[in-house]
Amino acid sequence: MDARAAMRRSVRVAPPPLASRAAVLLLLLLLSALPLSLTYTYEQDVFAINGLYTALGSPSLPGWVTNGGDPCVENWQGVGCAASNITAITLSGISLGGQLGNTLANFTSIITLELSNNNIGGTIPDNLPVTLQRFFLSGNQLSGSLPSTLSTLTLLTDMSLSSNRLSGDIPDVFSALTGLINLDFSSNNLTGPLPPSMGNLKALTTLHIQDNQISGTLNVLQDLPLKDLNIQNNLFSGPVPTKLFNVPNFQRDGNPFNTSIAPSPLPAAPAPSPSLSPSTGHVPSKEPTKSPDVTNGSSPASGKHTIWTVKFVGYILVGVVSAVVIVLMVMFCVSKHKERKSKKDVHPKSKIGREPQRLGEPKIKEVPEIKEHLVKPTNTVGNSFKCGF
Ligand SMILES: *[C@@H]1O[C@H](CO)[C@@H](O)[C@H](O)[C@H]1NC(C)=O
Ligand SMILES: *[C@@H]1O[C@H](CO)[C@@H](O)[C@H](O)[C@H]1NC(C)=O
Ligand SMILES: *[C@@H]1O[C@H](CO)[C@@H](O)[C@H](O)[C@H]1NC(C)=O
Ligand SMILES: *[C@@H]1O[C@H](CO)[C@@H](O)[C@H](O)[C@H]1NC(C)=O
Ligand SMILES: *[C@@H]1O[C@H](CO)[C@@H](O)[C@H](O)[C@H]1NC(C)=O
Repeated sequence: MDARAAMRRSVRVAPPPLASRAAVLLLLLLLSALPLSLTYTYEQDVFAINGLYTALGSPSLPGWVTNGGDPCVENWQGVGCAASNITAITLSGISLGGQLGNTLANFTSIITLELSNNNIGGTIPDNLPVTLQRFFLSGNQLSGSLPSTLSTLTLLTDMSLSSNRLSGDIPDVFSALTGLINLDFSSNNLTGPLPPSMGNLKALTTLHIQDNQISGTLNVLQDLPLKDLNIQNNLFSGPVPTKLFNVPNFQRDGNPFNTSIAPSPLPAAPAPSPSLSPSTGHVPSKEPTKSPDVTNGSSPASGKHTIWTVKFVGYILVGVVSAVVIVLMVMFCVSKHKERKSKKDVHPKSKIGREPQRLGEPKIKEVPEIKEHLVKPTNTVGNSFKCGF
């Protein structure tokens, strides 16, 4: 364009004779008839972006055309270039519809494809550009399964396909994706187990796969350098590998985990009852981590939690029950006492009767009532005897 404009200018500066004028016109006609050969942008990239634009339904996008054009010169919206190669297409949240088409693999140098939060439907094409490093299609309406050709994207560092309608099993495509750092498949309809090749994701620090129906165990993840792992609301079963509890941000609610440790708390549960009376409420609150260690130091944290929870609930149950029993006995005694009092009327013996009780147990007076209740079966026995007589 610039060249042509410059030519026109030079033509005007020195008005030529008719013959040369016609020659120049002819030349200009020839030039305009061969736009492709003159575009600065690499022609395969132009072909690819024309195809994408057509597949998206040719929405109103400044600069974009369905045939030809020069994206790297004409500043097409959202297009980034390195010299004459398209390296980035970034069009997020602008209500794009349509589909992705089948020319993505014709991009020769694209590094970033970011089309998040639009309404793009259809499937993720099988033919993907192997130069991709950042691949973002989250928040669209993509359906179908994840293409097995994801395995060819060996330069990927970040990929998010979250919040679409993707279904089917996660394909076993990760063997060569050793540079992948952030992966997000969350909020789709993915099923089946995590494929074995996920164990090759040696750079993976963030994995978000929450809100799917993924099943099986998490074992394949246990040696990855994860910092952020979200597997909430899936169908994972346990036990959770111990190493995963070292992941700083590990969110795992909403899974039907079943642990092989589950049976052990049941036999362990009766154990706490004998040691109840000495210091009922204090052991769990002060040192919650110690009691599980006694049971099995090498069990996963979830197991510890389960055991601890069972014990704690046991303590509370026993405490509540004994408190109720004590209260009932006290009420019984009071009513008995009133009966007796009403029968014996005037006698000061009732006062005398109370005094031995105080002398016999001076410490209890100083302790708050709650402890008095908790402290004892022995007291209730004493009380009931006193009541009885
Ligand atoms: C686009 O890529 C396909 C294969 O993916 C190839 O067959 C075709 O020749 C390419 N077209 C151009 C114009 O490069
Ligand atoms: C543009 O792409 C071609 C073909 O892939 C490649 O040979 C060339 O190095 C690229 N140039 C730049 C500046 O990326
Ligand atoms: C997942 O599939 C179920 C039933 O097949 C469907 O009701 C639900 O809307 C789907 N979820 C998504 C996010 O597509
Ligand atoms: C627990 O999960 C395993 C798979 O890890 C499964 O085979 C087993 O049936 C499950 N047990 C229960 C009680 O759900
Ligand atoms: C703890 O559990 C592991 C298996 O989870 C077992 O190998 C080990 O012997 C157990 N240790 C104790 C003290 O029970």
